[in-house]
Amino acid sequence: TERTYIMIKPDGVQRGLVGKIIQRFEERGYKLIAMKLVQPTEQHLENHYADLKGKPFFPGLIKYMASGPVVAMVWQGLDAVKTGRAMLGATNPLQSPVGSIRGDFCLAVGRNICHGSDSVESAEKEIKLWFPEGVVQYTSALESWIFE
Ligand code: GTP
Ligand code: MG
Repeated sequence: TERTYIMIKPDGVQRGLVGKIIQRFEERGYKLIAMKLVQPTEQHLENHYADLKGKPFFPGLIKYMASGPVVAMVWQGLDAVKTGRAMLGATNPLQSPVGSIRGDFCLAVGRNICHGSDSVESAEKEIKLWFPEGVVQYTSALESWIFE
């Protein structure tokens, strides 16, 4: 079992898509083990997107991401990182398949409503960055109906 960091970006929150995005992860069978609504600082976001520092869109990305509250979450389950990314769709919503979150709810790469960790290593880093207090451990009654 695996953990991934999923974040609903400021446009996803403002557009009222929080419930729909959470519902997709719940319905797929993933377990929510941490969640909070936060207004991130630019410093924190520069840390989160450190790998992209130097890209021409970096300043705009930080401004966009700091423009309002985000929903920070950790989801756990089989293949959570790769399948989580597939559920979000491609970086550019126009290249995201219909049925994916970006493919169903947005159009512009700079307003793509959600974030997902791109590897197990970045998931670990991002979970520590956004949840230094740690995640919540609990047993889900559904587990034996979702995993064999
Ligand atoms: P995240 O889940 O947000 O990390 O997206 P990603 O992993 O699919 O893409 P990446 O990490 O390469 O880029 C991070 C974010 O920067 C993207 O989600 C976009 O919001 C933004 N971004 C990436 N490429 C471009 C670009 O070419 N133009 C603009 N305007 N924004 C971009
Ligand atoms: Mg990324």
